Amino acid sequence: MEMAIILAAGEGSRMRSKKSKVLHKLCGKTILSYVVDESKAANLEKNIVVVGHSGEEVREHFKDEPIIFKSQPIGEDFPYGTGYAVMQALDEIEDNSTVVILYGDTPLIQSTTIESLISYHKKNKFKGTVLTAKLSDLEGYGRIVRDEGGHISKIVEDRDASPSEKLIDEVNSGIYCFDGRLLKDALSKITADNAQNEYYITDVIEILKRDGHKVGAYLIEDSVEINGINSRVQMAFCEEVLRSRINEYHMENGVTLIHPSNTYIEAGVKIGRDTIIHPGVSLEGETEIGEDCIIRSGTRIESSKIMNSVNIDSSLIEKSFVDDGTKIGPNAHLRPNSHLGSNINIGNFVEIKNATLGDNSKAGHLSYVGDADIGSNVNIGCGVVFVNYNGREKFRTRVGDNAFIGSNSSLVAPLNVEDWGYIAAGSTITKEVKEGELSIARTEQINKEGWVEKKGYKK
Ligand code: UD1
Ligand code: CA
Repeated sequence: MEMAIILAAGEGSRMRSKKSKVLHKLCGKTILSYVVDESKAANLEKNIVVVGHSGEEVREHFKDEPIIFKSQPIGEDFPYGTGYAVMQALDEIEDNSTVVILYGDTPLIQSTTIESLISYHKKNKFKGTVLTAKLSDLEGYGRIVRDEGGHISKIVEDRDASPSEKLIDEVNSGIYCFDGRLLKDALSKITADNAQNEYYITDVIEILKRDGHKVGAYLIEDSVEINGINSRVQMAFCEEVLRSRINEYHMENGVTLIHPSNTYIEAGVKIGRDTIIHPGVSLEGETEIGEDCIIRSGTRIESSKIMNSVNIDSSLIEKSFVDDGTKIGPNAHLRPNSHLGSNINIGNFVEIKNATLGDNSKAGHLSYVGDADIGSNVNIGCGVVFVNYNGREKFRTRVGDNAFIGSNSSLVAPLNVEDWGYIAAGSTITKEVKEGELSIARTEQINKEGWVEKKGYKK
């Protein structure tokens, strides 16, 4: 069996955050989720996460996922270090297992790399294999010391390294693959006899070798994957890498991104072919967008389903559904639970909330449509307000097919306007409108002839 132990008990103090470092989100997904998902994608069946200080918060966040949590006691009375962290998972390590060690704060690691590490480890019959990288900035990293034959002999920490060892440009990524039984055995032999008085997992390599076992080092193809997050600056760096991975994935799938580095698409979003995304668009949550859509600048779509050939310009769409060929914006707002049919036109400064609109209906300008069920071919004039709230309760309005709601009308809910109901502009409608009726609810106009002259205003 193959398993992962993911270390996440470090304090993360450089984040200066109230919450656990690994719960911060990159492209809408927590740092730790990236690691766990890649681990699962590499077929590591059992995932153990070692947590420290804010462990409760992390456990709570992942309570519905098949993750085994272990707590590392943190404080002056306890030792510290990556070796001590792995020891917390001892009782989960089976003798005949292959154990991969990962960090909870390195979200760029990819399942393909984990798989390559495991197969290199197995093919060469190594008992311990470390994933290494060539870096230009070596500070803080453990160095890979190799013997004359080119085989790894040990890992030496930056602080413990001799001047010549410090020059080695191959570093320890912190990711390893071990034989379960021998890992447990070696963990019982590590000491805190080093510059930091910590238990180092890195010592396991040297111990295995000393005990006569084969150990190896596998050089990663793309060293960007080993970047960890200790600060918000590093978090922004990792997010940029993840964002371009996501954006490249969509472009490979046939989506046009006019200005990719200026487009924010979260990890769970799906987009159909030949859709064009303009700069300054945010697609978030569980959003799904169909084919041949045009999404223009200044649009944010959160957890919504947009079908095909939809046009959206600088608008906010939250938890809603939009059917084929509908046009939205500029500057429209679909609040949660809006359901728009096909070929609808929602124009500027229209707000829709918890409402359904049938095919071919229109609300071109300056309207509020809240808590309403509107049929098809309905025209909602400029400035129409669905008055849905009396200060205590919300009520619904129903408008039938082919109805016409004149500009600047208020429809006071609860209300029913039947099919072909017509409402004159400027009306305040409080009573039902039957099929085919014209309803006028405004004071009648009075014209006073010659009034201006009589007043002496016009001479
Ligand atoms: C470690 C390696 C170093 C390697 C580097 C790569 C050791 C001794 N050194 O360095 O060779 O180049 O990673 O980034 O292993 N953690 C715990 N509990 C602890 C200590 C750490 O869970 O008691 C976790 C942290 O949350 C973090 C990871 O282990 O996710 C690495 O800890 P960190 O302090 O960043 O590693 P270094 O000691 O700097
Ligand atoms: Ca450290």
